[in-house]
Amino acid sequence: MSANTVEANRNRFRFDDQAAVWLFGYGSLIFKADFPYIERRGAAITGWSRRFWQGSHDHRGTLEAPGRVVTLIESAGSDCKGMAYLVSPEVFEQLDFREKNGYLRFCTDMTFDDCTQARGLVYIATPDNSAFLGPASESEIARQIAAAAGPSGPNADYLLHLAESLRHLGDHDAHVFEIETQLRLALA
Ligand code: SIN
Repeated sequence: MSANTVEANRNRFRFDDQAAVWLFGYGSLIFKADFPYIERRGAAITGWSRRFWQGSHDHRGTLEAPGRVVTLIESAGSDCKGMAYLVSPEVFEQLDFREKNGYLRFCTDMTFDDCTQARGLVYIATPDNSAFLGPASESEIARQIAAAAGPSGPNADYLLHLAESLRHLGDHDAHVFEIETQLRLALA
C-alpha cells in the first residue's frame, strides 16, 4: 500500500450523519492537538499496543533518514491509553492530511477514564504500508530516533513529549519508557 493515505481515508468510516465524532489519539495526537475540538478526555482502547514501528519521512525524518513514530499493533488483552477528542466530522480532512504517511482510519470502541464508553475513530499505520519499519530493539530504535529530524522537528522531541504526556495520563508504557531511557543515554 502507498504511504500516502489521503485518498484511501476519504471514504473510510465517515460519520457525516453525526454532529460530532470521538477520535482516539495515542501518539502525537496526545501532545499536539493542533485541530479544533469540542472536548477531550483521557481514554483507552483494548486489544492494541503502542510501538515505534512506523517510519516517518514527512514529519520527524526524511526519505534518506526516516524517523520512527508510533503505530498500534494488535495485542490481545492489552490496553493502550491515550487521549480522546470530540471533533466535528469536517476536522477529519485536516487529520487525514496530518496522518497521511501510512495511517488509515479505523473504527474503535474506547473507554473513558470515568469508565463510560463511546465508538469513534483511530488512525493506525498497518504493516502493509510502505513506510512501515517494524520491530527493532529499544536501543536500536533510540539510536535511529536520536539521529533523525524532519519538518516537524527532531524525532527525539516526539519521543520525549510522548513519554511526558503518558506520565501525565498515569500510563506506564514499558516500550516507550525504555526507548526514552536509551535515548537519554545515547544523547548523554
Ligand atoms: C496518533 O497520535 O493517534 C497517531 C500517531 C501519531 O500521529 O503520532
